[in-house]
Amino acid sequence: MRRRMAMLASGPSRLLLAATSGGETGLSQRLRSTSSMQGYSELARERSKTVTSFYNQSAIDASAEKASVRLTPATLLYAGKSPDGQHILSSARYLHKELPVRIAHRIKGFRSLPFIIGCNPTILQVHELYIRAYHMLSDFPTIKDQEMESGYSKLVQQLLDDHKDVVTILAEGFRECRKHIQDETLVRNFLDTTLTSRLGIRMLATHHLSLHEDNPDFVGIICRRLSPKKIIEKWVDFARRLCEHQYGSSPRVRINGHVAARFPFIPMPLDYILPELLKNAMRATMESHLDTPYNVPDVVVTIANNETDFVIRIADRGGGIPHTILEKVMDYHFSTAEESNQDPRMSNLFNTITNSGPQSGPMHGFGFGLPTSRAYAEYLGGSLSVQSMQGIGTDVYLRLRHIDGKGESFRV
Ligand SMILES: Nc1ncnc2c1ncn2[C@@H]1O[C@H](COP(=O)(O)OP(=O)(O)O)[C@@H](O)[C@H]1O
Ligand SMILES: [Mg+2]
Repeated sequence: MRRRMAMLASGPSRLLLAATSGGETGLSQRLRSTSSMQGYSELARERSKTVTSFYNQSAIDASAEKASVRLTPATLLYAGKSPDGQHILSSARYLHKELPVRIAHRIKGFRSLPFIIGCNPTILQVHELYIRAYHMLSDFPTIKDQEMESGYSKLVQQLLDDHKDVVTILAEGFRECRKHIQDETLVRNFLDTTLTSRLGIRMLATHHLSLHEDNPDFVGIICRRLSPKKIIEKWVDFARRLCEHQYGSSPRVRINGHVAARFPFIPMPLDYILPELLKNAMRATMESHLDTPYNVPDVVVTIANNETDFVIRIADRGGGIPHTILEKVMDYHFSTAEESNQDPRMSNLFNTITNSGPQSGPMHGFGFGLPTSRAYAEYLGGSLSVQSMQGIGTDVYLRLRHIDGKGESFRV
């Protein structure tokens, strides 16, 4: 077995070497997120399982054949709360069925990548994480009672943690193989699908975990009365702090339009998208006014609410996006962060979307802010569009469908 693996080491070598060596590789450390709980033998068993699954695909293949069952937010919202916690049990049973199917689809996506990309050690690392998650989730026995449900919730929480850096790792992996990729749409399709599917999985998982909490304003991840103004303000504060740290000053932000609007919505996607858009607007404003950093034009955020959807427009006077790059700003990895910053610290401040969530540290401008935000918006039945007034500034329109509005809702 060991010899066969060594022979194959030019393929997914990282995985195989990690699996055969008993030492503390980076991978094994990564796999051991709950190290205190897992014994060595369990770890070894898990590793060998991951290796086997690269070759023995039947279970994953069978799951990947199944269609995923996407839920409307209304289903999530009205699934009913029963005092005996029955709703939590049925939510867990849904996840127990659904998560392996969704993850198997993703694994199929990794397997369909061109060989040169699929073998990139960084991308392989994420592929392994998915295989591992697949087995842990599908090996979990049928959930019969609350005790089993609580074990299952622990597992789901652990996997959420283990996967929190996946976007960053994928961004890095694809950056490494850019030079081998001719087909740009291949990268876009893979990342759009992988990232939005990940968002869906994380929304469902977090929804389930949040059902345990007792917050009158929330049903799982759905806020019953979300105030767009409030959530915008939260991310304005965040972006201004980063901006001040970087430039010593930051633009003020005015919010107008339907500032009193409140409606049921899921804050999670907004928590990813808003900081990205605000950071872009602030960065452009500061960099187009380097001579007068203490006197820069405001960023104006306008909220428009109607029966079908709501729109958030972020307008800056940061000089606009030049004609020459306008077509590229929605490409993954396109960024002008490198050329504009002399200070290497700056590049660290303008991208959080690639991280698990805005709470975790900001990340180097990988050029993921706009493409990921657009993919998320479209996944939720909305859109993200950029209008540049070259020489003056940029308007970004984020449009999202109501979850209880007229017309069909999106599905998670
Ligand atoms: N509001 C804006 N004004 C001017 N340029 C912008 C604006 N938003 C985005 N851009 C341009 O689009 C590029 C890509 O943005 P993004 O995807 O968020 O990646 P990043 O911020 O990591 O560079 C930026 O580097 C910048 O050149
Ligand atoms: Mg950005």
